[in-house]
Amino acid sequence: MIIAIDGPAGSGKSSTARAVAERMGLRHLDSGAFYRAITYAAMQRGIPVAEWPNLDTDRLESFAVSAEPADSGFRMLLAGNDISGPIRRAEVNALVSAMARLPAVRTWLLGTLREAATRADLVADGRDIGTVVFPEADLKVYLVAEADVRARRRLEQMGLAADEVSLAEEVGRIEERDRADSSRDVAPLRQADDAVLLDTTHLTFDQQVARIVELARERDPRSAP
Ligand code: CDP
Repeated sequence: MIIAIDGPAGSGKSSTARAVAERMGLRHLDSGAFYRAITYAAMQRGIPVAEWPNLDTDRLESFAVSAEPADSGFRMLLAGNDISGPIRRAEVNALVSAMARLPAVRTWLLGTLREAATRADLVADGRDIGTVVFPEADLKVYLVAEADVRARRRLEQMGLAADEVSLAEEVGRIEERDRADSSRDVAPLRQADDAVLLDTTHLTFDQQVARIVELARERDPRSAP
């Protein structure tokens, strides 16, 4: 079984996907973490952003980014070291879309992401899971929420105060990333034709998780407890 959860920045895809996976006994595949890990690796190597379009498969391989199954998801490693924390930093947030728009990077990751599905039933989240990575997914959900709600959640997630100024700045950053992700040529962010739209603006976290679990069980009664 594959459940695909896509949506814009800060819509709660990853935390929701993780909780759905735990409730249903599936593995969580956070595709954004792979884009973040490659971005972080390039930054660590001091490769200027202007040179990222020249990265080819050999160079990407040489970064030594990998993912190992851990708990009910995957842990991102750089040369064997756990980088789950650093890949969430604001510097990575700011540059990840520049990496994610490169065709060579997307092609290279496509194989890795699809391979994960050969080994386990998954809840996968990202921008193009339902449209490109797993077009045959059993259930596709497109999560949205108003930008200021997404910005507030993101600041809370980073442990930062959500005062008026920081909130306005965070709204600017996530809207900028949405623009970059939706307007790129390869695998742009968009709702798959057969995805269920779920607006979480007025839902609690538990409500949105419960709704997706319910949809999954309707699609595949075998997954009912
Ligand atoms: O959690 P948040 O929405 O901040 O982002 P994420 O899911 O960790 O993804 C980070 C970035 O990776 C996105 O802004 C996209 O540029 C890129 N991404 C992508 O292009 N395709 C995916 N399937 C997942 C992420």
